[in-house]
Amino acid sequence: MRTWLVTGGAGFIGSNLVVMARRQKWARIINLDKLTYAGHLESLAELQDDPDHIFVQGDIADSALVGKLLTEYQPDAVINLAAESHVDRSILGPQTFIKTNVVGTLALLAGTLQYWQGLTPPAQENFRFLQVSTDEVYGSLEPYAPAFTEIHPYQPNSPYAASKAAADHLVRAYQHTYGLPTLTTNCSNNYGPYQHPEKLVPLMILNARSRKPLPVYGDGKHVRDWLYVEDHCAALQSVLENGRPGETYNIGGNCERTNLEIVTVICRMMDNLFPLAVPHIRLVSHVVDRPGHDRRYAIDSSKIQQAMDWQPSTNFEQGIAQTVNWYLSHPEWITAVCSEQHQQWMDLNYDRRGAS
Ligand code: NAD
Ligand code: DAU
Repeated sequence: MRTWLVTGGAGFIGSNLVVMARRQKWARIINLDKLTYAGHLESLAELQDDPDHIFVQGDIADSALVGKLLTEYQPDAVINLAAESHVDRSILGPQTFIKTNVVGTLALLAGTLQYWQGLTPPAQENFRFLQVSTDEVYGSLEPYAPAFTEIHPYQPNSPYAASKAAADHLVRAYQHTYGLPTLTTNCSNNYGPYQHPEKLVPLMILNARSRKPLPVYGDGKHVRDWLYVEDHCAALQSVLENGRPGETYNIGGNCERTNLEIVTVICRMMDNLFPLAVPHIRLVSHVVDRPGHDRRYAIDSSKIQQAMDWQPSTNFEQGIAQTVNWYLSHPEWITAVCSEQHQQWMDLNYDRRGAS
C-alpha cells in the first residue's frame, strides 16, 4: 500500500480526501494539520481506530517536524492542502496567509526536496508532490469570456489568491530548478460535508435553519463554478496516479451559478423541509460587497478529462441536496465547529458591514 503525507487533512477538503483514501484503500495516511480554527478532529471521527491513519498536530512551516515525518514514514507522495483558505479573512488580515500559504509551502517543498534527493532512483521516479491550488489565482473573467485553461495568466486579486499564486510559483520553481516531481491542481468552489460555516453554502444553510438574515454580498450576481467535494478528491487521486510531473490540471464542475442562484436553491429546499409563513428567500439581505470581489470564475477542465478520464459524478442538484441534508443531520459537528471564536468572526465580518 502507498503512503501519503497529507497536510491540512483535518480541514474541509482534506478530511474528505483522507476519509475517502482510507475507505478505498488508496494509501496509508500521515495527516499533518495545525488544527487552526478551520481544522477539526471531529471531521475524522470515522478513522479514530484506523492504524493506517496517523494524525500529527503541527505546522507545515516546522521544518524539523516535516523532516522527521518524511524520514520516519517514507511517503510516496506529499499532498499539500494546508492553507488559510477564506478570502474575507485574507482581506482583514493577510499576514497569516503569507505565513502558511507561502512560507509554509516553501518549508514543505524544501523538506520534501531533501527527502526526495535521498531516495533510490526508482523511489524518486515514483514520488510526487501535489500542490492543491485554486482557480482564484487566475483572477476574474468577463461575462462571456472563455473559461480558465491551464495557460491562463495568473492575475490574483485578493491576498488569499496572491498567496496561493506565490505558492504555485514556488512549486513550479522546485520542479524546474531541482527536478522535484511536482503536480499542481487548480480547482473551483467545492461544497459538501465538513465545510466550515464561514463559507457561502454552509453559512446559508445554517442561517436559513435559524431564520437569520442571509447576507449576500453586493448584487449577488457574482459567478462561481461549483464542484462536489468528493469529485475533487477523486480528481486528486487521479492526478497523483496519472499526472505528468511538472504539469498543472484544472478541476471544475462545469456548473456556473450566481451566488443568488445558490442561495435560492438552498431556500427552496428549506421551504420544503421547514415551511415558514413566508418563503426563506425573504431572509436574503444584500450587504456591502467584499472589497475587490471577483465577478466570475469558470474552469475548463478538458485537460484532466482527456488525460485521465476523470469527470464529475455528482450533479449540482444531487450534491446540494446531500449537503443540505448533511448539515441538518449533524448538529454535534456544527456545535463543535461553531465556537466562540467563530461567533467573533461572524460579528467582525458582518455586524458592521451595512446594507448595500
Ligand atoms: P480549510 O480552511 O477547510 O482547511 C485548511 C486546513 O489546513 C485546516 O485543517 C487547518 O487546520 C490546516 N492548516 C492551516 N494552516 C496550517 C499550517 N500552517 N500547518 C498545517 N496545517 C494548517 O480549507 P479547504 O477548503 O479544505 O481547502 C484546502 C486546500 O484546497 C487549500 O489549499 C485551498 O486553497 C484549496 N482549495 C479550496 C477550495 C474550496 O472551495 N474550498 C477550492 C480550490 C482549492
Ligand atoms: O474558487 C475556489 C475558492 O472557493 C477557494 O480557493 C477558497 O478557498 C474557497 O473559500 C472559495 O472561495 P470563495 O471566496 O469563492 O468562497 P466563499 O464561500 O467565501 O464565497 C463564495 C461566494 O459567495 C463569493 O462570491 C462571495 C459570496 N458570499 C460569501 C459569503 C461568505 C456572500 O455573498 N456572502 C457571504 O456571507
